[in-house]
Amino acid sequence: MSLLIINIKSLIQVRNQNVLKVSGEEMKHLPTIENAFLYIENDKIVDYGSMENCKNIKVSKTIDALGKIVMPTWCDSHTHIVYAGNREQEFVDRIKGLSYTEIANRGGGILNSAKTLQNTSEDDLYQQSIQRIKNVIKLGTGALEIKSGYGLTVESELKMLRVIKRIKEHYPLKIKATFLGAHAFPESYLKDKQGYIDLIINKMLPKIANENLADFIDVFCEKGYFSLDDTDAILTAGKQYGLIPKIHVNQFNAFGGVALGVKHNALSVDHLEELNQDDIDALKGSDTMPVALPSCSYFLSIPYTPARQIIDSGLPLALATDYNPGSTPSGNMNFVVSTACIKMKMTPEEAINAATINGAYAMGISNEYGSITKGKIANLIITKPVPSYNYLPYSFGENNIETVIINGEVIT
Ligand code: NIG
Ligand code: FE
Repeated sequence: MSLLIINIKSLIQVRNQNVLKVSGEEMKHLPTIENAFLYIENDKIVDYGSMENCKNIKVSKTIDALGKIVMPTWCDSHTHIVYAGNREQEFVDRIKGLSYTEIANRGGGILNSAKTLQNTSEDDLYQQSIQRIKNVIKLGTGALEIKSGYGLTVESELKMLRVIKRIKEHYPLKIKATFLGAHAFPESYLKDKQGYIDLIINKMLPKIANENLADFIDVFCEKGYFSLDDTDAILTAGKQYGLIPKIHVNQFNAFGGVALGVKHNALSVDHLEELNQDDIDALKGSDTMPVALPSCSYFLSIPYTPARQIIDSGLPLALATDYNPGSTPSGNMNFVVSTACIKMKMTPEEAINAATINGAYAMGISNEYGSITKGKIANLIITKPVPSYNYLPYSFGENNIETVIINGEVIT
């Protein structure tokens, strides 16, 4: 199979193989070739350049992209896309005045989703989840991280991770799996928190490692959830099984979780709606990617991650959806990119870098995904005719995507 895309108005995010993430000032630049071609063989990007240099070769298929932008697919590095049921009643309760924390304290929130998931069969959970997977592919996502964490029992955490594995086997997009047993304390352990941590470390982790069900380990490090000591113990144990740390941190309170993540060489620290100078200092010089989740801030009406402070300190930043039933029932990366520009004052260049190459870095896959690079996997978006790439975040809520290509194959 070979595919040639010609007359591309702008081919954006064109980078050398050695660029694995972009930080600070570098985020302001989005390397672009105007009036370009792109040549794909099987699942790989093989060549690209200015249309003048496009050779007349015989290919299986040609696409004329006159007036259109071609770019890498979105890399969504933080989702809980495998879940059962919905929480629209809590949404209405919040409109009427209850807070997210008040709802959680009443047994709603994560525990509500866990109850539903525990009573859902593995097949049903798979069927519910793939509807969302099909949707996010249409919205331009080509690489996705998926977390467990709505099981909270040995059996149900395994059920979630097996569903993620099954999605990986049946859908072409790139998937990374994260074990988030430490998402909340189940009701039966509220008086024996150490008992649940022991269950995670001694029962869940060995089984997950044995079935090779996860790449990463995550903890919700937050007041009322997992403390710094709990997080430290769980990440340490996960690493012993070869899982790479990531953490949910600073969503509501900043109390040293970022530095703890960096100490564990976490691949990413996610949320960061509350951020202080100590957190910024901890991230400087580290390999840890800060990740912002603007549609969570939008949906819960909580502060937005201070992207300007992060980027202006010379740090990198990635953007992801946090797709989940409680705080972000949306997997739309186009909305994330728009919201980052509108509410976090990121420029279109910064937001697109954050949602592609830096998102890929936050999944440990930026050597193969996240940019237009010779040898990388051909996961691409072809837009409808648009005036410029600025139009993508500008026209928020509109669908500007015409075609999605995954592994060199036209999907939609
Ligand atoms: O990333 N913050 C923790 N976990 C999820 C939300 C969980 C839920 O409300 O179901 C998040 O926002
Ligand atoms: Fe999350």
